Amino acid sequence: GSKRNLLIFDAEEDLAVSLAKYTADLSAKFAAERGAFTVVLSGGSLIEALRNLAEPPYLETVDWSKWHVFWVDERVVPKDHEDSNYKLALDGLLAKVPIPPGQVYAINDALSAEGAADDYETVLKQLVKNGVLAMSTATGFPRFDVMLLGMGPDGHIASLFPGHPLVKENQKWVTHIKDSPKPPPERITFTFPVINSSAYVAMVVTGAGKAGAVQKALSDKQASSDLLPVEMAILQDGEFTWFTDKEAVSMLQNK
Ligand code: 6PG
Repeated sequence: GSKRNLLIFDAEEDLAVSLAKYTADLSAKFAAERGAFTVVLSGGSLIEALRNLAEPPYLETVDWSKWHVFWVDERVVPKDHEDSNYKLALDGLLAKVPIPPGQVYAINDALSAEGAADDYETVLKQLVKNGVLAMSTATGFPRFDVMLLGMGPDGHIASLFPGHPLVKENQKWVTHIKDSPKPPPERITFTFPVINSSAYVAMVVTGAGKAGAVQKALSDKQASSDLLPVEMAILQDGEFTWFTDKEAVSMLQNK
């Protein structure tokens, strides 16, 4: 079965404290259960919200050697480019913690968007064979231990945008987009079947600019048409937790 939680913090700093503990606790759980911890990152403000993981106590208490780090989406730019989600995570977190470099799975920036998406899917399939990455027996798609995701003001998650045909992709694990409404236009992204096969998803959403999409996502649905991408994140068998601040939930009626 699946579980949904809504956490609302008075301030972004409180959210960051809780998100670090959430991630560290899941790291300990999966390291003990499976000897590996598969963590999927997005870009955007999420990385800054993870900053406490690179500080005491987590810097010492987390078993970083068990971490395997992936990206839910990436811009098709060189890895050292300002727009790179890899660079953002490297500078904000990964360079500060002792994860073995071979366990940080950056998207191949020498390939085209299409080539990089296919290449990443091949990398994931190899990790399934090695037993690092779990599979969902229910869906036939890979089952990541946790996805730490942000949401755009338009309700997009990963590079799955409202009204874009990519939201309907149901075969591929990883695909590409050449006309992203959020720049830069060329990106690669995990698909909904992969996101929805996760064991845990944290949806980290702060600020008044997100209040409209949060309100739509958390209000009772009148009709199932016209769903925002964030509303299509429905886990098959997992726990979905909203990490929000007061501003992001300011349009909710019953908090
Ligand atoms: C990207 C991100 C994207 C991000 C959301 C939210 O490549 O743009 O991975 O999916 O998570 O756009 O970004 P903010 O939290 O910065 O609004």
